[in-house]
Amino acid sequence: MPDIETLLHEKRVFKPSSEFAKRANWSKKTTNEYRKLGAKSPERFWAKMAREYVTWFTPWKQVLRWKPPFARWFVGGKLNVSYNCLDRHLEGENAWRRNKAAILWEGEPGDSRTLTFAELHREVCKFANVLKDLGVKKGDRVALYMPMIPELAIAMLACTRIGAPHSIVFGGFSAEALRDRINDAGARTVVTADGGFRRGKSVLLKAAVDEALTGAPGVENVVVVRRTGDPVAMQSGRDRWWHDVMAEASAKCPPAKLDSEHPLFILYTSGTTGKPKGVLHTTGGYLTHVASTSHAIFDLKEDDTFWCTADIGWVTGHSYVVYGILANGATTVMYEGAPTHPGPDRLWSIVEKYGVTVFYTAPTAIRTFVRLGDEHPKKHDLSSLRLLGTVGEPINPEAWMWYHRVIGGRRCPIVDTWWQTETGGILITPLPAAVNTKPGSATLAFPGIAADVYTEEGVPVRPSDGGFLVLTKPWPGMLRGIWGDPQRYREQYWSKFENIYFAGDGAHRDRQGYFWIMGRIDDVMNISGHRLGTMEVESALVSHEDVAEAAVVGRPDDLTGTAIVAFVTPKGGIRVDGELVGTLRDHVAHQIGAIAKPADIRFTDALPKTRSGKIMRRLLRDIASGRETVGDTTTLEDYSVLARLRESDET
Ligand code: WT7
Repeated sequence: MPDIETLLHEKRVFKPSSEFAKRANWSKKTTNEYRKLGAKSPERFWAKMAREYVTWFTPWKQVLRWKPPFARWFVGGKLNVSYNCLDRHLEGENAWRRNKAAILWEGEPGDSRTLTFAELHREVCKFANVLKDLGVKKGDRVALYMPMIPELAIAMLACTRIGAPHSIVFGGFSAEALRDRINDAGARTVVTADGGFRRGKSVLLKAAVDEALTGAPGVENVVVVRRTGDPVAMQSGRDRWWHDVMAEASAKCPPAKLDSEHPLFILYTSGTTGKPKGVLHTTGGYLTHVASTSHAIFDLKEDDTFWCTADIGWVTGHSYVVYGILANGATTVMYEGAPTHPGPDRLWSIVEKYGVTVFYTAPTAIRTFVRLGDEHPKKHDLSSLRLLGTVGEPINPEAWMWYHRVIGGRRCPIVDTWWQTETGGILITPLPAAVNTKPGSATLAFPGIAADVYTEEGVPVRPSDGGFLVLTKPWPGMLRGIWGDPQRYREQYWSKFENIYFAGDGAHRDRQGYFWIMGRIDDVMNISGHRLGTMEVESALVSHEDVAEAAVVGRPDDLTGTAIVAFVTPKGGIRVDGELVGTLRDHVAHQIGAIAKPADIRFTDALPKTRSGKIMRRLLRDIASGRETVGDTTTLEDYSVLARLRESDET
């Protein structure tokens, strides 16, 4: 019996248009050559990427030193990330980019700012000097707890300029979560703002910092950006206003020549389970990975306006709002606020306003927009778009088709990109000119990436069978460890199969070798001895015209071992009754098979999600089986959802 069964059968195939292919950065030919090179020698392929996409002060002596599970890339090489994102766009043949927009920023209230590469460089140098004046030295960790404002990107780049690894804590996290992360990283400096705007209200950040610091005695300095104008308490000797310290700072700051393996940042994972892990990324390999994938996958051109809607507090924002995009000298859009504020068309109005050409967002957002209705995107001119991307979860084919049709006007290729906080950059993805896409599949591994699907015994699965998604060789953007916990690093990622990275996801490959990611392996249910991915049942539910979103979990059942419980959010205006329950159960049986028929269907107007939009199935499992909710809920987006779910009628 296969390790994980797959019952999803998606037959639609989309070929790259010849018009798109003609202009693509990576043609089919180039891609195929790289694929061959990457398969034969990943090290030679990545060395080529490192030469092509990164400027080094000192060349490396060895491409890879691999002592499993510890990798070092571009050993002996020296570089600086802020130099690669800024200075090199101001010099020589690129000097014309001085006055090109680096950041197009839109605040939630509708204010906007543009920073050119020259301006951003100036601000970064100044803030790097501010950090130095505060006593921040190479290797010191700096915690950033900020809204999505340009100062966040400035602070990140300033840290990289002097070799101080940053630890960004998403501005939606609580004081408690912030305190844990500050202490774990041992940060002595915190950069924050009075607050940030979210759904028309201000989220008070400095107040949360004050609370966090009551239990973080190591912090010596706090720099505060004035964003909302909310009153804040400034503690003398510790707290300073950004505008005061910047007014006196010099705009000259040579970039530190850092070792390729110098720590670049720590990022705590979203923590759907257990204590947060400080994922460590370093300099040369990470930059090579994010710069090359940005150019190849997002097809970045000089005249592109790239918008990744992720918050910089997540890895997606690190890699594809800031580092990978600016390293290519491309223009990146940053938006401060909620996607549906003040109206459900906010994102589409931003696409129209800035003429966004490449748009990268999450399936959870797409499903929200499906639910809100086509009239909102249709109010706006989206004809500037030429390429779309998704990341964060498996996208159900119906949401993919909607994205393709309503947002992409049927002309934009879609890149469904699979990766993780731990992987640093994209690993499994279509290349838009070279790979046919199938709705719901992240398609193939990027050149130089060795991905496979293993059985429990550690051998590749047969075509069409499901199993454990693994990486059989190191790659440059991979995490170098968990901050302060090498043992957990080994156990978490390298212990299931010897010297093989196990991602935690289930997947299967079809006869063309395409990867179909089925989500976290702990989201797999065992129904009468059949292992089914929750995501496939969800996809089947969402393919019904009355359903906007669905989450599926298992609950213990005497008869079948596990019974399927579905939490369903119907589309607006749909009547919820016993008839709909029957219809949906039959629909799932028809789409997948009787084995996948949910035992219970519960209707709810919202699902519990982490702040990065992942459904917290652990909580749903507890509710489905009538248990008390246990464990960490500090990352929950909307606590009230939980209470409402408990009340939701079991039908
Ligand atoms: C997990 C990583 C990568 C940045 C955002 C999330 C799921 C991610 C896809 C995709 C199916 C995906 C996986 C992965 N995931 N992208 N295209 N298709 N699943 O980072 O919070 O570290 O989460 O997100 O389960 O392991 P993260």
